[in-house]
Amino acid sequence: MNPQFKPQQIEKALRENGVDWIRRPEYFESIASSNDYLLEMQGSLHGHVCICDYQTRGKGRLGKQWFSSAGANLMFSLGWVPSGPLSSEISLLVGVALADALREFGIEGVGLKWPNDILVAGHKLAGVLIESRTRGSQAELVIGIGLNVRHQSGDLKAVEQPWTDLAKLGFEEIDRQPMLTAILTGLAHRLEQLEMDGFEAIRRDWLTYHVYQGENMSYQYQGKTLVGRVLGLDKGGALLLETGGQQVAVSSGEVNSLRAQA
Ligand code: BTN
Repeated sequence: MNPQFKPQQIEKALRENGVDWIRRPEYFESIASSNDYLLEMQGSLHGHVCICDYQTRGKGRLGKQWFSSAGANLMFSLGWVPSGPLSSEISLLVGVALADALREFGIEGVGLKWPNDILVAGHKLAGVLIESRTRGSQAELVIGIGLNVRHQSGDLKAVEQPWTDLAKLGFEEIDRQPMLTAILTGLAHRLEQLEMDGFEAIRRDWLTYHVYQGENMSYQYQGKTLVGRVLGLDKGGALLLETGGQQVAVSSGEVNSLRAQA
């Protein structure tokens, strides 16, 4: 079992990495959902971090549940208040920051499936759930991340797609705290980059990690399924599909590879 998290050490490491707006990380052995903890917080949630070892009501994308055995994985949420309007670009940005941090730790073959699933050889290694709330006239975001470190076979029932974890990839002894610090540092720097320079460089970086470029994917919306070839991302981060000679920009919902289903 990895040692538990030490919030003060995490905060100190973030300062050393030049991140000054993430403050007072909080650690819980068990909580309903780290996303909900921040969403229900009084006052601004900007820069707050909630780390946990177990969630009784962990949430995944598209209303799904997110299961994890106690202490087996890395689960946390970060609060962020953008200076401008909310944008779906942040969703793509989080995937890039995660992929960068994993690569920095020597994990090879990390790729992205739109918008921000982290895959290795077609198997899901991490997922991201971004939620928002409004405080006064200000939109506030919660970025929730679940990274499979040592996924337990009992959690399998909850996973609807092939999965992997750091242990399977040969990183059995990985210490979760430096990994968390690296992800938070990368996320902070990418969010600062978005605010200062816009999305274009992040969009290009996302495409370098994209694993299904040029492939046929299915897209489910309003009970219908559309199949199209992936052309890339538009300027705002929507996935561009070519179907029946037309371009369709997908900005919500789920796409799935036909390759993976074959
Ligand atoms: C997905 O469906 O791929 C997204 C999973 C996100 C799970 C994380 S775990 C920490 C945070 N708290 C939650 O309740 N969900 C996210």
